[in-house]
Amino acid sequence: MLKKWSAAVLSGLLVVGALSACGGEGDDAGSGKKDDGKITMGFAQVGAESGWRTANTKSVQEAATAAGIDLKFSDAQQKQENQIKAIRSYIAQKVDIIAFSPVVESGWDTVLKEAKDAKIPVILTDRAVDSKDTSLYKTFIGSDFVLEGKKAGEWLVKEYTGKTDTVNIVELQGTTGSAPANDRKSGFADVIKADPKFKVIASQTGDFTRAKGKEVMEAFLKANPKIDVLYAHNDDMGLGAIEAIVAAGKKPGVDIKIITVDAVKDGMTALSEGKINYIVECSPLLGPQLMDLAKKVLAGETIPQRVLTEETTFTPEQAKAALPNRKY
Ligand code: AHR
Repeated sequence: MLKKWSAAVLSGLLVVGALSACGGEGDDAGSGKKDDGKITMGFAQVGAESGWRTANTKSVQEAATAAGIDLKFSDAQQKQENQIKAIRSYIAQKVDIIAFSPVVESGWDTVLKEAKDAKIPVILTDRAVDSKDTSLYKTFIGSDFVLEGKKAGEWLVKEYTGKTDTVNIVELQGTTGSAPANDRKSGFADVIKADPKFKVIASQTGDFTRAKGKEVMEAFLKANPKIDVLYAHNDDMGLGAIEAIVAAGKKPGVDIKIITVDAVKDGMTALSEGKINYIVECSPLLGPQLMDLAKKVLAGETIPQRVLTEETTFTPEQAKAALPNRKY
């Protein structure tokens, strides 16, 4: 836990590398906390719903250790109320900085204001909030989910160029109300609306999990005799859906073309085997950048309000080439 120095003083101390020597072993300003000169970060994670999330958690934990940051970690099990509780507990513990990946976009103003009043800076990672008051957080680091949806739509448009028959699409959405579900849906819809042959005949949440992806796909298959394309907002739901497609006697990637988002190892393996046709990458490796930004914020440095993650896309051939070196 750091003593609450002014930003200017702290910045100077960081520059001369004197941070670890500045606090001594005493209590931090009567808080009962040991002042060991280390930054303490409270991180409120969404959950463990997907391979992506597991890789993201690992990245944050490893990066905190590497940066010498004391990390307090909580798993909200995909529930906003759990995340709010965790953030309040970090405020009560007087951590130096809070980072979190909001389960859903709305409903954060009150708790973010509590953090601001307690003078604890907040960094959003991976997912955005829809708060109008952007002073409630220092920066947002993560992907452009609208662009990811657009890339998925662009592949589809290209794949069906020159064809006139109706293309029936089913969509497995991420967690209802989450930024990636909202944005991947709208980005995709924006691109395919230009051609009326593309019809989204069913769209439902699969909560970003494999089990729910399978369950919802089973229902889609029962209700719709002709499905040409599945667009799943993440690999895990796509992988669950593949099980349902196989069980229905159809060939994934052939009878039903499949587009997913993430590019985790399991998804990339299915892509390399032709069971998925295209994956839009979403990188979970946000840990090192997050720790770097946290240090800068606490040193009083100016940082950008938005830090975008660089990402690519994969065809089956590209997946085969990338798999041996894939980290997650
Ligand atoms: O917010 C990122 C999304 O959350 C990932 O695409 C998904 O797999 C995860 O659960």
